[in-house]
Amino acid sequence: MQRTLIWDLPTRLFHWTLASSFALAWLTSEGDRWRSIHVFLGYLILGLVVFRLIWGFAGSHFSRFASFWFGPKEALDYLKQVMTGHAPRHIGHNPTGSVAIYILLAMAVVVGLSGIVTLGGDEQQGLAAGWFTFAQVQIIKKVHDLGATLMLLVVFGHITGVVVESVLHKENLARSMVTGFKQAAAGTPVAQQRTAIAVLLLLAMLGFGGWWFYYAIDRNIDTQAWHVKLETGMGEEPHVKFVGKQLPDNKQWRDECGACHAVFYPALLPARSWQKIMAEQDKHFGTDLGFDAATTGAILKFMVDNAAEKHVIEAAFKIEQSIPKDVTPLRVTEAPYWINKHREIAAADWANPLVKSKNNCAACHTDADDGTFEDAAMHIPPRPKASASATASAPQ
Ligand code: HEC
Ligand code: HEC
Repeated sequence: MQRTLIWDLPTRLFHWTLASSFALAWLTSEGDRWRSIHVFLGYLILGLVVFRLIWGFAGSHFSRFASFWFGPKEALDYLKQVMTGHAPRHIGHNPTGSVAIYILLAMAVVVGLSGIVTLGGDEQQGLAAGWFTFAQVQIIKKVHDLGATLMLLVVFGHITGVVVESVLHKENLARSMVTGFKQAAAGTPVAQQRTAIAVLLLLAMLGFGGWWFYYAIDRNIDTQAWHVKLETGMGEEPHVKFVGKQLPDNKQWRDECGACHAVFYPALLPARSWQKIMAEQDKHFGTDLGFDAATTGAILKFMVDNAAEKHVIEAAFKIEQSIPKDVTPLRVTEAPYWINKHREIAAADWANPLVKSKNNCAACHTDADDGTFEDAAMHIPPRPKASASATASAPQ
């Protein structure tokens, strides 16, 4: 037996980067605040898998798939042998460990790709922005969540296996994945460090990270808004902002409907509400809009095309679900989802002269005009000093 290099440097770098990326991705999976880091880790993991697939053919002997090409039956047989304490020692991956590796690689692809699609549908961000609506993407989101949970289970199984094997064969397997060395009989294929490849891999990862955090993300952060959010406890401060989505727009709608008040994006009400508003335009909240047939038709078409049913934003789906089918609200502020989302806002905030009316969406949603209503763009304006608020009008 002699000290032999088994795991080359790129394999070890891959292993530990994948392990820490997965752990970090798990820790950053909740909420908006760490999303940009979570998504970065997802892409990194996908890139690592691509590298590993190449390395499964180009790497050193024990890194090649050919050296651990075991199937489910061999994995189970080996597991039984481990249970009875008669498992032979494998210098490279044992059959059970090999199958765990294949499952992890496959699941990393499934979880990574479903993550991209979920981000595109849920937040309208990333490569798949706009491919699917919020509602359509919910099943894919389940796949993403369940896949990640399955991966975590396999990781625990893998760690258990490493501990059991280490005890069984009296060798520290985790350390050999750090140093690369194991005790092996003469004649065992010896790996080469392949340091240059490892350095290239490391540089590629650092380069990707640098690009991601300095160029790929919109750093135009409305920090003041986020601080207000934090102070009022109404939101999480994102670590870095993502580029939001551009919704369909229409100049005629914007000009005509924006003449008296800020426009209400069509996604905020179902199509039947817009139809009713246009049908009753001669008594529009006490005014007569008086649009001719052509104008009415063009504006109505834009509004119906992007109404709540079309789910162009996350809130549209929830607004649509919240309104009973036999009800046709004429106000956005009548939708149960809207009422529910705003019920915790203090009376003093509604009374704030910077807000004044519930219809003044832009007072708190800096992107109200764009219609996106992103969490990151929401902020409650600071309240005036005591003397000013005493004279402010009552909430509507
Ligand atoms: C001539 C002025 C005028 C024009 C033009 C106008 N509106 Fe209005 N709109 C009003 C008034 C006044 C109100 C009532 C505001 C209030 O109650 O606070 C209102 C309220 C609304 C509301 C209810 C807001 C809420 O949720 O409380 C919606 C929705 C609305 N308008 C849609 C439209 C659409 C769509 C168009 C274009 C087709 C349009 N408006 C054009 C005057 C106008
Ligand atoms: C006084 C400030 C304020 C005003 C005015 C206001 N909102 Fe909000 N809105 C909030 C806050 C705060 C939240 C976040 C509540 C939460 O996350 O629990 C919110 C949440 C929302 C959401 C949910 C976003 C999501 O995550 O899906 C929508 C949609 C929305 N508002 C639409 C509107 C519209 C449309 C108007 C105007 C008719 C409006 N809001 C007026 C403060 C305001």
